[in-house]
Amino acid sequence: MLVNLNYIFNQYKDQCIAAFNVFGYEDAVSVIKAAEELNKPVILMANTPAIKHMPIPILGKMLCSLADISSVPVCVHLDHSTNLEDVIAAIKAGFTSVMFDCSQLEYDENVKKTKVVVKLAHSNNVSVEGEIGSVGYNDPSVTAKSEYTEISAAKRYAEATDIDALAIAVGTVHRMVTQSAMIKFDLIKQIRDVTNVPLVIHGSSGVKDSDLTLLAQYGIRKINLGTVLRLAFGNTMRETLKQYPEMFDRIDVFKFSMDAVYKEAKSKMLAIEY
Ligand code: G3H
Ligand code: ZN
Repeated sequence: MLVNLNYIFNQYKDQCIAAFNVFGYEDAVSVIKAAEELNKPVILMANTPAIKHMPIPILGKMLCSLADISSVPVCVHLDHSTNLEDVIAAIKAGFTSVMFDCSQLEYDENVKKTKVVVKLAHSNNVSVEGEIGSVGYNDPSVTAKSEYTEISAAKRYAEATDIDALAIAVGTVHRMVTQSAMIKFDLIKQIRDVTNVPLVIHGSSGVKDSDLTLLAQYGIRKINLGTVLRLAFGNTMRETLKQYPEMFDRIDVFKFSMDAVYKEAKSKMLAIEY
């Protein structure tokens, strides 16, 4: 069933929901398989590289079709969008949720631009995630600052924008390939104490499984994971071709990677459960 973020947050009140970056049919279907086996809702996220690879109208229709036929609630979310054109295209393509990422801008500019997106999205029953503070990148090709979320700014931003979910920077970094993020759990608690909006953690591939459980226990409602699945897909493809050098059919090769993605997604969903 295709739903937006608010549906999931309202129906699964005390739960933390896994959100995975997906790049096409193979990983999307594998993530949904994991969610169905655990009978849990899930969020499929299309980020900037994904929409550069496959245009929003095509990717959106495919992800929404998979969500439609799923036995669990599936939210189809545009991740880290920075321009209004992509948001409009995503809404047209059936996305039920968008992140509008103005975290690199000054506070006032962030509020102003986010409010425009909230108005447009809400009138189409599409949920909106914003970010305050900035989660940096463990990737020199991406220029983004790393800045912890300020408690008072989080409160003011959530109230001023009417967003449905708030991404906060509390120690994670995007695209980490080891699980060594140092999370400021005290900061999460302080932000949670002053805001009512569901909180989101980005860059969670760098978080060890025991801390994923703790994030859920600290009241985080959405945990974003991308790199762990990309690693599972890519590393398995490399191993498969090494093991079967005569293999050339992509469907045969992908079967192994899809299984690896399914297992990784399931294991992260279980880690988040508490
Ligand atoms: O928005 C997407 C996530 O923050 C994914 O981050 O690739 O470091 O897990 P990650
Ligand atoms: Zn992110």
